[in-house]
Amino acid sequence: METLKSAASYVADFISGRQPELGIVLGSGLGSLADSIEDPLVLPYSQIPGFPVSTAVGHKGNFIVGNLSGKCVIAMQGRFHFYEGYPMTSVTMAVRVMYLLGVRTLFVSNAAGGINPEYRTGDLMIINDHISLQPNPLIGPNLDELGPRFPDMTRPYDPALIRRARAIAASLGWMVHEGVYLGDTGPSYETPAEYRFYRAVGGDVVGMSTIPEVIVARHCGMRVFGMSVVTNEASGDFAEDYQNDGDDVVKAADAAASKLTRIFKELIATL
Ligand code: HPA
Repeated sequence: METLKSAASYVADFISGRQPELGIVLGSGLGSLADSIEDPLVLPYSQIPGFPVSTAVGHKGNFIVGNLSGKCVIAMQGRFHFYEGYPMTSVTMAVRVMYLLGVRTLFVSNAAGGINPEYRTGDLMIINDHISLQPNPLIGPNLDELGPRFPDMTRPYDPALIRRARAIAASLGWMVHEGVYLGDTGPSYETPAEYRFYRAVGGDVVGMSTIPEVIVARHCGMRVFGMSVVTNEASGDFAEDYQNDGDDVVKAADAAASKLTRIFKELIATL
């Protein structure tokens, strides 16, 4: 709690007087949403006491505070992944700092493999549930100041925000999926048998992030909305010479980022 509070007070001083009401986690290749933020203040994580530093491909490491669709937002340009070697307390620290700054709604985004055979590279999916195959970030002594020992996870993703996002996509004439994000640790991509297994147990996409942040956000009662960009088709049925490649994943995410940005912006305007 002390580490979280000192990081939060450092950020609060830096943004002096601005009051972010929405937090946004920008996933691989989706950092360009940050370019839409007006009057941005950029705070590198490396300056914040107690903060980890992001190393993943396609990720920068900054908080960006500014206005988006008329709301004061704090965006994470670059997140922390368990596969980078950080403990889950570090992976999720930024979300808790946002909470201490007064943020009560969190938008998350990620790049993910499409294990639903109907999903195509470049498609977007509204996350309506998840399956976690990562360690739970709440393991350890409970931080009672933030939330309960056994937080409810019946509605991890806010149903009202999902409905509104669905309506926004429809009004733009865009086909957007709704489905289950399955999160494993990575960093190796899945084998064909693993992709088929994840599909069989109910996943629509698979990725290596997001769930720890969502669990921590729900623990402290934040409302969560999330979307995935399908960056590779991963139903487990691959051509003989197919290979998963991290650079291709980042490129595919970049290509779909403008649509995701539009939906996020329109949804934020309704908050
Ligand atoms: N697996 C796991 N994480 C991912 C993938 C994938 O196929 N694509 C993008 N992130």
